[in-house]
Amino acid sequence: MKGIILAGGLGTRLRPLTLVTNKHLLPVYDRPMIYYPIQCLVNAGIDDVLIVTGDQAGDFIKLLRNGRDLGLSHLEYAYQEGEGGIADALKLGRKFSEDDKVCVILGDNIIERDIRAPAARFAEQPSGARLLLKEVPDPARFGVVRLDGDPPDGRLVEIVEKPEDPPSPYAVIGIYFYDSDVFDICDTLKPSRRQELEITDVNNAYLERGDLAYDVLEGWWNDAGTFESLHRVSRLVAEGGANQVAAPS
Ligand code: G1P
Repeated sequence: MKGIILAGGLGTRLRPLTLVTNKHLLPVYDRPMIYYPIQCLVNAGIDDVLIVTGDQAGDFIKLLRNGRDLGLSHLEYAYQEGEGGIADALKLGRKFSEDDKVCVILGDNIIERDIRAPAARFAEQPSGARLLLKEVPDPARFGVVRLDGDPPDGRLVEIVEKPEDPPSPYAVIGIYFYDSDVFDICDTLKPSRRQELEITDVNNAYLERGDLAYDVLEGWWNDAGTFESLHRVSRLVAEGGANQVAAPS
């Protein structure tokens, strides 16, 4: 399986910090934000990675070079023109993926533990996609699932992007597993009200095919897109670290 990290966007909610610096290069405690999603992939055995970014692409190359120091065997970069949304950025991964399965991670998503178990379950999945969910106090900020029962047995019914009236407390976190059909699905999408190609529409397309599974993530999860969440995740990392892999029992 290959990894795609989406690290573009304007980071408008973090202005003025993001006026001259890409959000994913801002510090989270003692490291640049982008180190955490890279470590998350490496911990799951995914060391062939594409980073999609925009205008500050040169800063990423300066920081990460060929990725060897961070445990990557291969690192590529892609340049996203404009701000077309997550699914638009993902389109740039088609050639890189070479028909392999991919784990897509949003560059501001940081987790306490690891994704080894869901990655292994997805590797066993013959086709389709797999989401990671997390129960949150403020689901209206995220993509949210409607389930027909409680996890892990409740089945997915629908995913709603930033709902005013959330159908559950389970947010779809920004770590997704897809088969190679994802690129064809991205090509069929129409821009949403915020004029973006939405990853939620990709996930709903898999749901309509009856080929979307999920796991509930263990440990904390944080997306560092706002001052409040950036501050919170820096504190969490300072207190206990991120990407903690359980020792084999
Ligand atoms: C994006 C997705 C949303 C998901 C979130 C996780 O939101 O659209 O479904 O729950 O990432 O970080 P955005 O960061 O674009 O607001």
